[in-house]
Amino acid sequence: MSAFGSSASYWRQIDRRMGVAEPATLDGAVSAGRRTPDAGVTHQGMAPLSRRLLPDTAEVVAGDSLSIGGVEVATVAEEVGTPVFIYDEEHLRSRCREARRAFGDGVSFASKAFLCRAMARIANDEGMMIDVASGGELYVALRAGVPPERLVMHGSNKSTDELVLALDVGIGRIVVDSFDEIERLNRLLGRVAPATRPRVLVRVNPGVEVSTHASIATGREDSKFGFSLVSGAAAEAVDLLASRHSPVDLVGLHTHIGSQIFDLSAFGRTIDSLAPLVVTTGLTELCVGGGLGVAYTGDQREPPSLADWATAVRDACRVAGIPDSVRITAEPGRAVAATSAVTCYRIGAIKSVPLPSTDGVRTYVSVDGGMSDNLRPALYDSRYEAFLPRAVTASRPFAVTVAGKHCESGDILVRNGHLPQDAAVGDLLATPVTGAYGYAMASNYNKLLRPPVVFVGDGRYRVVTRGETYEDLLSLDVDEPALSHCVP
Ligand SMILES: Cc1ncc(COP(=O)(O)O)c(C=O)c1O
Repeated sequence: MSAFGSSASYWRQIDRRMGVAEPATLDGAVSAGRRTPDAGVTHQGMAPLSRRLLPDTAEVVAGDSLSIGGVEVATVAEEVGTPVFIYDEEHLRSRCREARRAFGDGVSFASKAFLCRAMARIANDEGMMIDVASGGELYVALRAGVPPERLVMHGSNKSTDELVLALDVGIGRIVVDSFDEIERLNRLLGRVAPATRPRVLVRVNPGVEVSTHASIATGREDSKFGFSLVSGAAAEAVDLLASRHSPVDLVGLHTHIGSQIFDLSAFGRTIDSLAPLVVTTGLTELCVGGGLGVAYTGDQREPPSLADWATAVRDACRVAGIPDSVRITAEPGRAVAATSAVTCYRIGAIKSVPLPSTDGVRTYVSVDGGMSDNLRPALYDSRYEAFLPRAVTASRPFAVTVAGKHCESGDILVRNGHLPQDAAVGDLLATPVTGAYGYAMASNYNKLLRPPVVFVGDGRYRVVTRGETYEDLLSLDVDEPALSHCVP
């Protein structure tokens, strides 16, 4: 078994060879993935997997086998089955602590990235609040034992039932998103005693463009989220909620400009836009939302850390004249959970098809999961890498397309992937950086079973969400009465 130290230095060499910046270097890192015209081979893909795509406690054991949290990935796959999400508990805890250190009290974990009771408990234990975006997320967090005052309720169309649940339990904050929601709150609350008024923030759309996929850019003018700053709707919402007759306690502003953001200046521009409203209203909280990016592939540059992000946000607030007394918070999801997990699949078929237009071939490596456990490639064209957990530091000259098992041509998990030359049917194949928006977006499409979620740490593993069974697929069906019973 090689010690963590030696595998770390091995991987540092690999990262250097690929031109990946050391973690301390934030800007000017490279995009090394050049494409050949035929089968879309990226040169960096020939190299072994970059260490920084793996969870913190990953190490190489027993020759070249991947272990996380002191447990061999192959052991989990053998005993629990595949596909399986394997999360490094220490990695999750460490990112939660880092977020809490960086922003202080009030920073929330965006549970939409990944939620089960075990995750909610970790975020809560490590001092984060938790943001929920539906009654379902609220329910899971409450059932995990998270105190209601540590929860923040989001949603662009909260139903009356969701608001009633949030108000009944005494939720910590509600982020108000529309004039209709203000009316709904007024109706529900009537005239309540000041002590029991819910604390609310106004979600403001700052009209800021960020460089990310269109479907995850939320702060531009044409968006379903929040109140427009430019049109004056945000100021109007603030006036309504802060008025003498308002049944809520307006404490601050909230914004979220999008996700997978590497360029921190986008937050600076957002804060510049919001500052006049914060200053003139004397509000005491400003939440800048989530959005900090992560590297999904070895050729992506190193993203800023949570601490860098918090520093940039604080500096921008100071420059924009926002008083130090204003509580500045954030809601990272991806930056906490994404790199903490790998998804492990089993290869079931390998098929090479000719590509007449290029005289090349494409090799499809089919695994036993797909778009039902990772929708991001189909939804956002997201790029991932693949590797074999039994040969984690091996070079990967075999150009492959990793396909899922759904009846859907778009069910591709990894385009332009690379594997060791001897990858074969029966091998375990893993995709790193799948801890955020993977399980959270999982479905039963084609009646595939949603995979189990396993947490590893201290040499042990525990199943925190069991895998579904065929019987689960029937659990919501209502037995139909015989047709004759329906006829009067
Ligand atoms: C309001 C809000 N906050 C936080 C987040 C988390 O974003 P990320 O996972 O990119 O940090 C999202 C993501 O959609 C969001 O909509």
